[in-house]
Amino acid sequence: MEKVCIYPGSFDPMTLGHLDIIQRACTLFDRVIVAVLHNPAKKGCFTVEERMEMIRAACAHLPQVEVAAFDGLLVDAVKKSGAHAVVRGLRAISDFESEKTMAQLNAELLPGMETLFMMTKPEHSHVSSSAVREIASFGGDFSRYVPACNVEKIRNHFE
Ligand code: COA
Repeated sequence: MEKVCIYPGSFDPMTLGHLDIIQRACTLFDRVIVAVLHNPAKKGCFTVEERMEMIRAACAHLPQVEVAAFDGLLVDAVKKSGAHAVVRGLRAISDFESEKTMAQLNAELLPGMETLFMMTKPEHSHVSSSAVREIASFGGDFSRYVPACNVEKIRNHFE
């Protein structure tokens, strides 16, 4: 049976930390669905289309990656996509509490749904999409934190 996982997030924009998790998930699953979802606590910066385009460009070398956008709850995206597991990255202990709550709520909403956590590589553990946006908005050099193919698109957005 084909093993499929879903890697959900805001990806606003995708960072090298996200890409590292996707690449590692590709070694464990036959198909990895990178799902752009809405986090109600966050105001978006890039459009969903722009985020998907940047993810597709950065994952062009990974044939088992599929990029999709979903509305509503993560559990509904899991049902719709037929994924067997949800993958999330953990950067630091501060991520743990909210990720644990989300994984438990999701498991109640969709019994049997598994969330797998992968430790973010140390070199990416201080990186975040909001840090990239902030540095870029003030004209700073954010290029070491995002896939090279997306640097220009992000820079143009803030110019
Ligand atoms: N390396 C570097 N940074 C990483 C990372 C990694 N491996 N993994 C995550 N991050 C950063 C991101 O850059 C982001 O930074 P930011 O807060 O500055 O934007 C932050 O960690 C987390 O973002 P991301 O992983 O992109 O997703 P999210 O936490 O914003 O998204 C959803 C969460 C979309 C999965 C969640 O809100 C959701 O499921 N929404 C749908 C509604 C729903 O079902 N809610 C749950 C009901 S219980």
